[in-house]
Amino acid sequence: MKISCIVAADKNNGIGKNNQLLCHLPADLKYFKNLTTHHAILMGRKTFESIGKPLPNRTNIIISRSELNIEGTHCFKSLEDGISFAKSQNETELFIIGGDSIYQQSMEMLDTVYLTRIHHGFDADAFFPALPDEYWQLNQNKFHAADDTNKFDFSFQTYNRK
Ligand SMILES: NC(=O)c1ccc[n+]([C@@H]2O[C@H](COP(=O)([O-])OP(=O)(O)OC[C@H]3O[C@@H](n4cnc5c(N)ncnc54)[C@H](OP(=O)(O)O)[C@@H]3O)[C@@H](O)[C@H]2O)c1
Repeated sequence: MKISCIVAADKNNGIGKNNQLLCHLPADLKYFKNLTTHHAILMGRKTFESIGKPLPNRTNIIISRSELNIEGTHCFKSLEDGISFAKSQNETELFIIGGDSIYQQSMEMLDTVYLTRIHHGFDADAFFPALPDEYWQLNQNKFHAADDTNKFDFSFQTYNRK
């Protein structure tokens, strides 16, 4: 099973504020949906609460130190148990979808990072870790200019572990 993460980060690696995303980019939500549909997604409890419901057509895995029982999801008390579950379901690709604490803990396990780089700086309280050149190769980088529905310039970037 391939383990990837998908994240939208601003120019300072900010990813969220007050348990919300930094901005609304419909093109990025569509990209997220296209990549993750029919795969497993793993998230921290706070990110799940921010989304508010299981995402359809995906195996939703939530990590919490509390005993959770949420319809339409699979809840585990450790990251390792969540990843093992995805493997046991014969998933081909697991997407780690955040937030800050889950990204920090899973970096070592990732094969690929799908990073939407938002070319703007926001006030943030949640961050994505740096991707040192030593370990990560940028293989795709597609720039999109701001338009009527997407208010900020952004780039879809794909990094693979060297
Ligand atoms: N821009 C993006 O692409 C993106 C994507 C996702 C999230 N975000 C943002 O990220 C922020 C949330 O990040 P966050 O770090 O505060 O929260 P989080 O990572 O979503 O969730 C944290 C919670 O996950 C559980 N957890 C974490 N590590 C665990 C472990 N090793 N074992 C068991 N449970 C564990 C704990 O839940 P319990 O407290 O229940 O024990 C912890 O409080 C929000 O602002 C959100 O909008 C941004």
